[in-house]
Amino acid sequence: MKAQIVDGPFRKANYPLFPTLVQVYDLQDNPSNIDIINYIDEQELSEWPKDIGDGSSTSQNEMNILDNFDIKKDIENCVNEYCIDVGLDKLEIGKSWINIQRQKGYIARHRHELSIISGAYYPFVEPNSSPLVFGSPILGPKMGEIHNQATEYTANEMEFDVRTGFLVLFPSWLYHYTIPNPSLKRVTLSFNTYHKTLDK
Ligand SMILES: [Fe+2]
Repeated sequence: MKAQIVDGPFRKANYPLFPTLVQVYDLQDNPSNIDIINYIDEQELSEWPKDIGDGSSTSQNEMNILDNFDIKKDIENCVNEYCIDVGLDKLEIGKSWINIQRQKGYIARHRHELSIISGAYYPFVEPNSSPLVFGSPILGPKMGEIHNQATEYTANEMEFDVRTGFLVLFPSWLYHYTIPNPSLKRVTLSFNTYHKTLDK
């Protein structure tokens, strides 16, 4: 690609190069939310190992949770829109599972390997639940900067407050984590994606 230079004279032009798209959809009042919560109540959950965090997930044997809920279609549409917005080839939803964090629950910094974009859908989060925090992917190459204030160029991380019905889509390579949850319940349905064209 070539940077667009303003025609004619100008004093300054900003080029925020190589941005990372995190996209948030509000799918509030989706009828699947109640189905998802009822589904969890019938499942045996496994507690996370300490190095992952403090919380529980649905079984490793059932990694296609989204297939059980009508909201899958809506989420697929959002994933398609994300791909169009950034210029990615079409993606299919792969593994999906549910995470539950109670009070003080958290998840350590991680990324979703072997996936292209990942999503976190929130069928239920109590108000004042902990935000989803993304770490800056461009800190690594920076060597000597002294940052006076957090801007989109200098921030170490970016927090997203989440609400029931939010869907957050992000590149799977983007590290993220949560801090200890102040609320009593914070439920996330997470999923990964893959390029169908490569899956032959
Ligand atoms: Fe994650």
